[in-house]
Amino acid sequence: QGEREENETEKGLRIADKGFLNTAVITSEITYIDGDAGVLRYRGYPIEQLAVHSNFLETSYLLIYGSLPTRSQSKLFEHEVMQHSIAHHDAESLLRAFRYDSHPMSILTSAFAGLGSMYSEANPSLQGQTLYTKGDAACLANMDKQIYRLIGKATTLAAMAYRVRQGRKFVTPPAGLSYTGSFLYQMDHLGEEEYKPSPVLEKALDVLFLLHADHELNASCTTVLQTGSSLVDPYSAIAAGCASLYGPLHGGANEAVIRMLISIGSPDNVPAFVEQVKRREKVLSGFGHRVYKTSDPRSFIVRKTADEVFKVTGKDELLETAMRLHEVAMKDEYFIKRKLAPNVDFCSGLIYRSMGFPLDFFPVLFAVPRVVGWLAHWRQMMLQPGGVKIWRPRQVYVGPSVRDYVPVDERG
Ligand code: ACO
Repeated sequence: QGEREENETEKGLRIADKGFLNTAVITSEITYIDGDAGVLRYRGYPIEQLAVHSNFLETSYLLIYGSLPTRSQSKLFEHEVMQHSIAHHDAESLLRAFRYDSHPMSILTSAFAGLGSMYSEANPSLQGQTLYTKGDAACLANMDKQIYRLIGKATTLAAMAYRVRQGRKFVTPPAGLSYTGSFLYQMDHLGEEEYKPSPVLEKALDVLFLLHADHELNASCTTVLQTGSSLVDPYSAIAAGCASLYGPLHGGANEAVIRMLISIGSPDNVPAFVEQVKRREKVLSGFGHRVYKTSDPRSFIVRKTADEVFKVTGKDELLETAMRLHEVAMKDEYFIKRKLAPNVDFCSGLIYRSMGFPLDFFPVLFAVPRVVGWLAHWRQMMLQPGGVKIWRPRQVYVGPSVRDYVPVDERG
């Protein structure tokens, strides 16, 4: 499928696979997707079971280390992540420098890159060696430390990106709260002693984080691995992934869905909007997926979570338009023929909106948990037998053959 062009080379036929429609660049043990059946499993465990029985940090351990943690492993992991959540003083100075109207994904991307300058022990070239060797305890401990830091600081940097735009003081991560509880506290705390995040919203966010934690080789994960394959420090690789996630075809889709629903205006305008999509004048954000050719299994869990959240926050006024859009699109031949169905972003934005997050913050709520998936893949690559091979794809050249340089006065 897709456009194909070829070059004959000394090594045989080279075929351009635009958009990587059919190219596998790694073998992986982390996440399994069957896009035709709507199946998603982390390390073999169905996403539906994890969403009900696990939590974000336990699932993070599973994704990164390959098995569900024992009680003591789980406690230690949570302790290390939360311990590393406090931001470096230099990170605070860096984030203070951003304009009040900066997009929070720009801030977060820069913040992750900035961390690379603050933790030089994570940089192999500064150490003059390849840092991560399987079986070397010191190397593995070093790698674990960067992992704890990145997961721990992701919520802190995200909350700082939120507060800096309002000119509000940063809040030190509190002790004794869960990962998402601490995040909500850092976002919302205004200085009153009695502030406590709503347990329903804290749990809902935890479920959403779990669902977003990994999705195998999407654009951002591929970017992390491509960048990491040069043995750059993990902070720079995660920053690259964050930049890739920012776009509206990927992690920016949850923001784009809400902008689309606002522009549609009311359920009555849905049929006309769908016609515009079919004429290719508009894109139906939150629909379609490179891998899923049926409903994204995460979208059902997101809808259940939305019901819980709306009991606390009240229904979002855009919900009816979203439901009508879903109904009309799913019955329309254009979408049926192309196997287009809702993806995880179709409903997640409605939850974030009703929880009071600003629209342009939604991709950040995708990036924070996805740090875990990026790290799981990065760790797998760094520890693969035989070491890391730099990712250097080839192209099919279709430009001019050799030409002689023409001086400027002779170019007509
Ligand atoms: N609205 C209208 N038509 C669509 C949509 C859509 N959302 N998605 C795909 N199509 C059409 C394409 O125009 C194409 O039609 P054609 O065969 O007549 O040319 C056909 O369906 C196949 O789509 P492709 O673009 O080839 O699919 P691809 O795998 O390259 O793209 C993508 C997948 C980027 C997700 C696409 O479906 C899209 O743009 N969706 C909207 C943005 C979105 O929701 N992104 C979030 C993805 S999930 C995630 O990152 C969490």
